[in-house]
Amino acid sequence: ARAQIGVTGLAVMGSNIARNFAKHGYTVALHNRSVAKTDALLAAHSGDGEFIRTETVTEFVAALEKPRRVLIMVKAGDATDAVIEELAAAMEPGDIIIDGGNALYTDTIRREAALRERGLNFVGAGISGGEEGALNGPSIMPGGPVESYESLGPLLESIAAQVDGTPCCTHIGPDGSGHFVKMVHNGIEYADMQLIGEAYHLFRAALDLDPKQIADIFTQWNSGDLESYLVEITAEVLGRVDAKTGKPLVDVIVDAAEQKGTGRWTVKSALDLGIPVTGIAEAVFARALSGSRAQRAAAKDLAAGELAAKPADIAQFTEDIRQALYASKVVAYAQGFDQIAAGSAEYGWDLKPGDMATIWRGGCIIRARFLNRIKEAYETDPALPSLILAPYFRSAIETAIDSWRRVVATATLLGIPVPAFASSLSYYDALRAQRLPAALTQAQRDFFGAHTYERVDAEGKYHTLWSEDRSEVRTG
Ligand code: 6PG
Repeated sequence: ARAQIGVTGLAVMGSNIARNFAKHGYTVALHNRSVAKTDALLAAHSGDGEFIRTETVTEFVAALEKPRRVLIMVKAGDATDAVIEELAAAMEPGDIIIDGGNALYTDTIRREAALRERGLNFVGAGISGGEEGALNGPSIMPGGPVESYESLGPLLESIAAQVDGTPCCTHIGPDGSGHFVKMVHNGIEYADMQLIGEAYHLFRAALDLDPKQIADIFTQWNSGDLESYLVEITAEVLGRVDAKTGKPLVDVIVDAAEQKGTGRWTVKSALDLGIPVTGIAEAVFARALSGSRAQRAAAKDLAAGELAAKPADIAQFTEDIRQALYASKVVAYAQGFDQIAAGSAEYGWDLKPGDMATIWRGGCIIRARFLNRIKEAYETDPALPSLILAPYFRSAIETAIDSWRRVVATATLLGIPVPAFASSLSYYDALRAQRLPAALTQAQRDFFGAHTYERVDAEGKYHTLWSEDRSEVRTG
C-alpha cells in the first residue's frame, strides 16, 4: 500500500483531478467501474507522475496508505450512494471518503451521519473550476469532520489554485457545509452569468452593437473592477465566429439555457431559509423562461407599446451598463453571503464568510478581482449585517446608483428584459427603505384571517375586530 490518494470515477473531472495529484508528486491509485477509462488515462498521461492501476474496489482500497483517502468523482445522486457503499464495505475505521461531486448538501449530511456510525470519515467537498480547474488548480470547499482535514487538507491545498500564496481551499465546516457553500457558489454563478447576459442584451438591443464590438468592451472591462473569469470568457465567446456560417457563434446557438440543477437548489434552500436571493432566483427563472420555446413562439406578436428612443450617447450608456453590472453583482454576492450565514445558523456550522471570499478568489468559476474586497470587508467586520454595508461597497454603489437607475429605466422604456438588474435595484431600494408596504400586508392578513399585527408605538400583538365594531384588541 503506497498510494496517498485514490480517485474513483475517471470521467474528465476525475481524470484531471487524479492527474493534478500526480503532478504534485502524490502516488494516485486509480479506479473506474469500467477499466477502459483507467487504461485510457494511463495511456495518455502516465508521464504526469505515479499512478497505480487497479481493477476492483478491493485492489483499489488495498493500494492506499492508512488512513486511506478516496476521492469519489461520479455523477451526483444514486451513483454516489452505490460507490460509497462498496467502498465503505472495504474500508476501515479512520479512513476518509471524499465526495467531490455536486451533491445536494442534505444528501451529504445524511451520508456523513451514516458513515460516522461506521467509524468512517465522510467529506463532502465542493470542487469548482471545470475541467481546466480540476487539472491546474480548482477551488475546493471541503466539509466533514475537522479531524479528517488534518490528513486530507495538505493534499487538497497543494492541488488547489493559489492566490498570493494562499490556497483556494480551506476546511469549511461540519457535514454538508462544503456542498452547501458550493451550491451557493453555483447560485452566484447563475446570477453573475444572467447579469452579464443582460448587459450583452442591452448592448445589442439598446445600442445596436455587434458581438465583436461587445467582445471588445468586455475585454476592456476585464482590466478594471469587473475583472473576472466570467467576463474574460464572455469576451472570448462573443469574439468567436462560426466556421460553418461565418456568423458570430453566439448568433447560431439556440437561446434556450439549460441547467443541471444547482441554481434551482440554491433558490429552494433560500426559500426554506427565508433569504431573498432575488438575483439568483431571477437567473434561474430567466433560464426557465428562455427554455419555454413553444410559449415564446406563440407570444411573438404580443404588443410592446410605444417604445422610447435609443440612447444617443453610446459611451455614456456603456459606462451606465458597466456600473449597473457592478452594483447588481454586489447585490447578488451580498444575497449569497446572507444565505451562507442563514445556512450556517440553521445547521450550527459556524461558517466564516471571509473564508469563502478567500477561496473563491482563484480556481472557481466566479473568481473575480472584487472577491479581494469581499475578503477585506469580512476581515474588517466579520459580523457585517450585509456586504452592501461594507464601506467599500457602499461607496461603489453610491458611485453606480444613477447609472443603475438609468439602465433599468431605459431598458424598461425600450422593452428590453433586465430581470436581474431590475430586481437587484429593487432589493437595494427595499433594503434602504425604512417603511415598507408590509404594514398593509399585515393589516390585510389581520382582516381576512385574524393573523394579528404589531404596533409601532406599543408592545404586544393586536387584532382589529374587522367584522364587528372595528375596535382593536390586544391578543398577546
Ligand atoms: C463549477 C461549475 C460546475 C458546473 C455547473 C454547471 O463550479 O465548476 O459550477 O459545477 O459547470 O454545475 O451548472 P449548470 O449546468 O446548472 O449550468
